[in-house]
Amino acid sequence: MALQYADEFIDRLHLIWGAGFLSPGGAQEVGAIVQGLDLEGARVLDIGCGTGGPAVVLARDKGARMTCIDVEPQLIARGHRLAADAGVADRIAFRLVEPGPLPFEAAAFDAVFSKDALIHIPDKKALYQEILRVLRPGGVFAASDWLSGAGAAEDPAFRRYVELGHLTFTMATAEETAAIMREAGFEAVTTVDRNAWYAEVSAREAAAIAGPLRAQILEVSDLATYERWRDGRKALAEATTHGSLRPTHLRGTRPS
Ligand SMILES: C[S@@+](CC[C@H](N)C(=O)[O-])C[C@H]1O[C@@H](n2cnc3c(N)ncnc32)[C@H](O)[C@@H]1O
Repeated sequence: MALQYADEFIDRLHLIWGAGFLSPGGAQEVGAIVQGLDLEGARVLDIGCGTGGPAVVLARDKGARMTCIDVEPQLIARGHRLAADAGVADRIAFRLVEPGPLPFEAAAFDAVFSKDALIHIPDKKALYQEILRVLRPGGVFAASDWLSGAGAAEDPAFRRYVELGHLTFTMATAEETAAIMREAGFEAVTTVDRNAWYAEVSAREAAAIAGPLRAQILEVSDLATYERWRDGRKALAEATTHGSLRPTHLRGTRPS
């Protein structure tokens, strides 16, 4: 299967989001996702860890003991390097997995974390059943995901973003996601809409790609790739302003 996060694409994303991050907001946004949770010494699973930035934040700043999974080997290799450079390699285990059921025993984790990765997993019902299964009773799921607004499929900006991109994804709305989580057995389900925040951030990102970052991006990408990405990111910023793209924080607890 072709890689979705080839090295060249990783380098581009790191230019806009910082080393180790394939999603926006950096350490601050990771902190917001887990706000109020005591993760000191907790066994935390990170689903779709990418190049490891969020896991390093959780291990370094929150004292979590991380198990990080992803489906592409080059991401895992980068994660290992980032964790070693950050001095937290002893607190982060990376594992390459196949898409599908989580390869862990029931109740193996105190918390399950994910940042902007669940969008890539099409069977949401099976996904949330699996997350619930690997959480211990009383354990917490805390994540962010790229959710859609109602009517996104009809938004020309959203359609253009999809047309110009190469990633495979399946989006749901916040209402659909909360319903699937409750059906799976989660309690205390909450969603926090981050659309207003990301409307501002994505507009700044699109402007930076079109202007100050252009030369740096062209050091890692060819011109055609750059131009397609610049246009796609502009469409993404517009879709966010329209409310079609709604980054959202998700929480839920496995009943005790
Ligand atoms: C947008 S990136 C986010 C990476 C990281 N969480 C971050 O915030 O920097 C999405 C990640 O999900 C991973 N992914 C896709 N399908 C997956 C699956 N079925 N299981 C686990 N990870 C998956 C991708 O390889 C990619 O690393």
